[in-house]
Amino acid sequence: MKQFSIAKPMANDQEKEAAARASLRFVKDGQVVGLGTGSTAAYFIQLLGEQVKKGLRVRGIPTSVRSGELASSLGIPLTTLDECQEIDVTVDGADEVDPELRLIKGGGGALLREKIVASATKYYVIITDATKRVPVLGKFPLPVEVIKFAQAVVRKKIEALGAEVELRRGVDGNPYLTDENNYILDCRFGQIPDAGKLARQLSDMPGVVEHGLFIGMASVVLVAGGSEIVELRRAE
Ligand code: 5RP
Repeated sequence: MKQFSIAKPMANDQEKEAAARASLRFVKDGQVVGLGTGSTAAYFIQLLGEQVKKGLRVRGIPTSVRSGELASSLGIPLTTLDECQEIDVTVDGADEVDPELRLIKGGGGALLREKIVASATKYYVIITDATKRVPVLGKFPLPVEVIKFAQAVVRKKIEALGAEVELRRGVDGNPYLTDENNYILDCRFGQIPDAGKLARQLSDMPGVVEHGLFIGMASVVLVAGGSEIVELRRAE
């Protein structure tokens, strides 16, 4: 398993598991299910595995090598985007969620596959503990996946937008490599007042493969806090 260090708030594992459990009701027999990445999504995959053992028939599309390995170890049948381009429901975690259900994702390094899977998903369910809810995105460093060749140029451009930028490294000190063999720049903006504008600016930079702003994608966000699950939906 790939390891890297990034400062993450201590979160309550019981809350993560509760949010994951609450998301199970969105998964129906016969569906194709996107499998997110990260510690909260791992709870979902484990719980889904239990349902599969009890007879639920689903096919999973993992958003990372490690989620695929976990799902396989639990007996969840897998498929691919080559075989199936429409995903019924995806359940994934997030690093930050704002009141408009805009997300920062990619703390776990899987934002590219996560966004591709999300883009092919009819119903996108985000599961989090309460620490991830913020009034304005940006406290969590925004992950931006870049091709290696472009990293210095992209870094300079993002710094010019006002962020402190750090190349993500693994615990061995070497640059962290994504499942697609790219680098990740962790970009500290402090606050992102206009996430849509920043998303466009980043997408317009040659060498940026994808960024961790997920805007207009989440269908529902399940936030576990204490013994409560709060269900957030976007205003239509
Ligand atoms: C991985 C992600 C994760 O969903 C995000 O980092 C949240 O992870 P965790 O549930 O471990 O807090 O975007 O790329």
